[in-house]
Amino acid sequence: RIAYVNGRYVRHAEAAVHVEDRGYQFADGVYEVCEIRDGFLTDERRHIDRLIRSLAELRIRMPMSRAALGVVLREVVRRNHVRDGLVYLQITRGVAPRNHPFPSPETEPALVVTAKSVPRSVHDHSAETGIAVITLPDNRWDRVDIKTVGLLPNVLAKQAARDAGVYEAWLYDADGNVTEGSSTNAWIVTADGTLVTRPAEHGILRGITRTVLMEVAARLGVKVEERKFSVEEAKRAREAFITGATTIVTPVVKIDDQVIGNGAPGSVATALRKAFHDSAE
Ligand code: PDD
Repeated sequence: RIAYVNGRYVRHAEAAVHVEDRGYQFADGVYEVCEIRDGFLTDERRHIDRLIRSLAELRIRMPMSRAALGVVLREVVRRNHVRDGLVYLQITRGVAPRNHPFPSPETEPALVVTAKSVPRSVHDHSAETGIAVITLPDNRWDRVDIKTVGLLPNVLAKQAARDAGVYEAWLYDADGNVTEGSSTNAWIVTADGTLVTRPAEHGILRGITRTVLMEVAARLGVKVEERKFSVEEAKRAREAFITGATTIVTPVVKIDDQVIGNGAPGSVATALRKAFHDSAE
């Protein structure tokens, strides 16, 4: 495997950043994960748009032009011979002696890109059986719309899910409303077949898969309501599912101890999953 690290393509086993990289010391950086399908990056343009927004919110410079970044991404995918899988890109504020304020403006942001193959069968399997989720209080900061590498609460929530023997943890706010999953957006389907997902304000990440799915729904004539929904409403929903670059659309068949619908993937989520890549770019 090959990784890109600050201007060089290096063997993955030897790909390293400096101990004083601010990503390492302060989680002072942002990232993107993009699906690779048939050798192409799904919705690359939207991922780069979101990356540029995350960087701007944190006042980190783009280390290279958008076009050059596209070349690096595709080169890492090519050098790793990835047909189906994921590309990971991370930009931090760079390397400087540890000190909380921003380093001098000449400090170069650090860019790392990796890619890995993930056989389609892995996700197709969970989509066919459906997944279970647990619910946990959302204890993250109030700017989770910025895709920062500061993911400790997400890591702990995901591990709690694994410890409970399930795939994902749905987080809920102080009012008992679902925000999102630890690495996915959360959706339910109401009795009349309407999709419901939380509005993308500062309280969730505006998932690219979420945005594209709204277009898929419009094309299929499925109504979408962006509004808050509670854990209780989710447990009574006709269907539930998650979206994200790593899972696309994956049905949720159990929330805590509550079986959703008849415990099998719902027809709406299944249809959306099938139609997804016709709307993705
Ligand atoms: N996670 N919400 C959170 C907290 C996420 O971390 C992600 C993505 C999403 C879905 O966003 P998108 O549809 O753009 O992938 C929602 C990535 C895949 C990760 O951290 O691995």
